[in-house]
Amino acid sequence: MPVTTDNSTTAMVGYSIYEKNKLPISVNCLDDKLIIEWDDGAQSEYHYLWLRDNCHCEQCITSLTREQIFEICDVPFTIKPSNANISPEHELQITWDFENHHSRYLAGWLEQHCYTKASREARQLKPTLWDRQQISQYLPTHQYQDIMSDSQALLNWLYEVRDYGISIVKNVDTSENTVKKVAERISFIRETNFGTIFDVVAKNNANSAAYTTLRLPLHTDLPTRELQPGLQFLHCLVNDAQGGESILVDGFKIAQYIRENYPDDFIALTTLSMSFYNKDKASDYRFDSPAISVNNQGEVVEVRLANFLRGPIAIAADKMQAIYAGYRRFMLLARQERFQFFHRLNAGDLLVFDNRRVLHSRNAFSLEQGHRHLQGCYVDRDELLSRIRVLERELA
Ligand code: OGA
Ligand code: ZN
Ligand code: ZN
Repeated sequence: MPVTTDNSTTAMVGYSIYEKNKLPISVNCLDDKLIIEWDDGAQSEYHYLWLRDNCHCEQCITSLTREQIFEICDVPFTIKPSNANISPEHELQITWDFENHHSRYLAGWLEQHCYTKASREARQLKPTLWDRQQISQYLPTHQYQDIMSDSQALLNWLYEVRDYGISIVKNVDTSENTVKKVAERISFIRETNFGTIFDVVAKNNANSAAYTTLRLPLHTDLPTRELQPGLQFLHCLVNDAQGGESILVDGFKIAQYIRENYPDDFIALTTLSMSFYNKDKASDYRFDSPAISVNNQGEVVEVRLANFLRGPIAIAADKMQAIYAGYRRFMLLARQERFQFFHRLNAGDLLVFDNRRVLHSRNAFSLEQGHRHLQGCYVDRDELLSRIRVLERELA
């Protein structure tokens, strides 16, 4: 995308606006990178290959799709500036020693994409972990009318869903399929073999423990899929049954607790694969994965557990005791009240949580006194994060 600049404090690259929070004051060219000094005294380094790769000019980025057409393997590995300076508009301007190509970089863009350790850490999203006490002090709660009609209210809700991994929307219209309308405020629904929307009611021909009156132990939904659904929506239309209360646990909090207190169990839970099976007449899903996934920075990014969807574990014999020790540890901790959020869903409540982080369960219920009907659906994490970014652009 061509760079659009004016004399104001912001400018655009791609679809995003970059504010000038601080200004570059000098540029110092070294062998394979340059150093920018900022007016707040900080320094950032940018490698020449990285800078050339990120040229925003019309030859390098097509204005049609705002996607890169330039390929870094088409210039020498040793490419260097023949000239680099800070322009009067506070842009970094480079002329390259190959093909005399000219590149301009906005101050705000450079700052936003600076890759020093401190800058990367500052941009990293950090989940707000909770236990019983913390979630009872503050439970993200939002109003149906607000999130449906107001973009800022929607964004505020989505930030909390992202950070806490849990929220309750109150006063939701109890007509059928309303859950779909709410989920579509975010984006596409993740369809599964249980449908686009699933009805959680006790059925005679149940194909899931969810569709009985039985207690459901703490679980994530669809651990049997390579990609577990991100957000889960459970909208209560009717709950006049006895029992059926919801219990939720922040799986990241349990993972953190195990990491700090039982490091051997943490290693087992992050390196040894559990087996998950979902068998039905017309489908047979299976997936093997550790119960806790960490990214390449070692941060916990996913929890995957459901007792009623497990298959026989198939790992090396000398690791079998270790995986059972880890799995039992996780479940026994998750059963402790100090980690549990307890809530009875009432008609008009919509519970939304990160299914790849928060375990959910419900007590057994009896239908003698009345009916119980929830409707649910899923939206993937990517959709949530994309919606947040687009709302941020629109509301900026
Ligand atoms: C589910 C589920 C909870 C409930 O459908 O996956 O966990 O309260 N339901 O019925
Ligand atoms: Zn270019
Ligand atoms: Zn469930």
